[in-house]
Amino acid sequence: MTNHPAARADALVLFGATGDLAYKKIFPALHAMARRGHLDAPVIAVGRAGWSVDQLRARVQDSIAHHGGVDEAAFGRLAPLLRYVDGDYRQREVFVALRRDLGSAERPVHYLAIPPSMFATVVEGLARAGCTRDARVVLEKPFGRDLASAQALNRTLHSAFDESAVFRIDHYLGKETVQNLVYFRFANTFLEPVWNRHYIRSVQITMAEEFGVAGRGRFYEEAGAIRDVIQNHLLQVISFLAMEPPTSTYPESIRDEQVKVFRMIRPLAPADLVRGQFRGYRAEAGVAADSTVETFAAVRLSIDSWRWEGVPFFIRAGKCLKATATEAVVDFKRPPLAPSFPQHSNYFRFRLGPDMAIAVGARIKEPGEGWSGHTVELSLVKQPRGDEMDAYERLLGDAMEGDATLFARQDAVEAAWAVVDPVLKNPTPVHEYEPGTWGPPAADQLTASVGGWVCPGAQPCA
Ligand code: BG6
Repeated sequence: MTNHPAARADALVLFGATGDLAYKKIFPALHAMARRGHLDAPVIAVGRAGWSVDQLRARVQDSIAHHGGVDEAAFGRLAPLLRYVDGDYRQREVFVALRRDLGSAERPVHYLAIPPSMFATVVEGLARAGCTRDARVVLEKPFGRDLASAQALNRTLHSAFDESAVFRIDHYLGKETVQNLVYFRFANTFLEPVWNRHYIRSVQITMAEEFGVAGRGRFYEEAGAIRDVIQNHLLQVISFLAMEPPTSTYPESIRDEQVKVFRMIRPLAPADLVRGQFRGYRAEAGVAADSTVETFAAVRLSIDSWRWEGVPFFIRAGKCLKATATEAVVDFKRPPLAPSFPQHSNYFRFRLGPDMAIAVGARIKEPGEGWSGHTVELSLVKQPRGDEMDAYERLLGDAMEGDATLFARQDAVEAAWAVVDPVLKNPTPVHEYEPGTWGPPAADQLTASVGGWVCPGAQPCA
């Protein structure tokens, strides 16, 4: 097994080219790469739809038209790079045809935009046809559905690819707002002295979505909020907020610090979790009439480290909530001798989506003779520039370049599963909640000792 992860790839092979992920995310990302002049390698789409290359081009064009619009010059650069190989992944012929189409390409990237149940078949097919030498593989979450299946998946991948050639996409790591957490923390000297248990009272993340399962009922039945976003996206955010400073002296240092955080998070106990399900979920297509899958989860995490001992980290994530917004709030202790100050007066608020903001909550004096004050927000960042790369463009570009910094590494994936594994095996009761609320009231108990949940925009969660 000789994979050469660091050299620029000279072909992109896209399995699952006729599917949803390709249509919604990958084709628009390829178009954006072509627009910036970042794509010159052939793109070999593999699917089972019996298409011609013209049909593939039409599909790509339609996808781009529906996701941001077609830039004729960029599409003109992308279209000639597209090729199509048709066939059933269970048949040897499709890999033989792929090998032929790869021609003189020596360092292909294989993107598995296919259901996880097909990963092993495709990896074996690639290996047998001699397509894995000097190659990389890209795959999407979910990376398994618990610790044991994640380990089994890693064994499959490692049968043909060295870990350094495996690029696991967690698109939160590709978000500008999430990367900025790491940058902001370690590019500002004033943070480090206060970024610890002495000054920080709690950290909380809310990932709220107004929409429901949006036609993905069958997928969601297999996943639930813990597997869908907590084990991956939101634990990644926690790792950036909690990690020790990475060094710039070797490329794996960010991922090394992340995995240390995951290993220090205490595995969840039932008392640390509140699960909810929005009223109406059971009537969704593909959902069991007696489903107990959670569409909302709130957890309290403890990080057993010198820095964080005693500081609770909270996450809540849910569908059909009151707003669509993802925010992390790092809440400071009250100053000494100020017991009457309201809760959540001093904090950093990082808005991670759908837009970007960084704000600091601070107290200032009311004008006049008295000594009373109120809380204001100092806004550090409000608007993005507008030409940022979307997460998929960034990650696909990095995979082509061989830079794995923003991808989930095997040890981190497994350590993150170890955090949630105990509550996946012994699920707690699920509380029904009304759509358009902040989830089940039972979740309020978790944060009661630290002044409750902060809602997006630092608004009260009424
Ligand atoms: C996906 C989940 O990984 O992330 C979805 O499967 C969720 O359920 C989505 O809606 C959220 O991504 P973003 O970038 O819109 O916050």
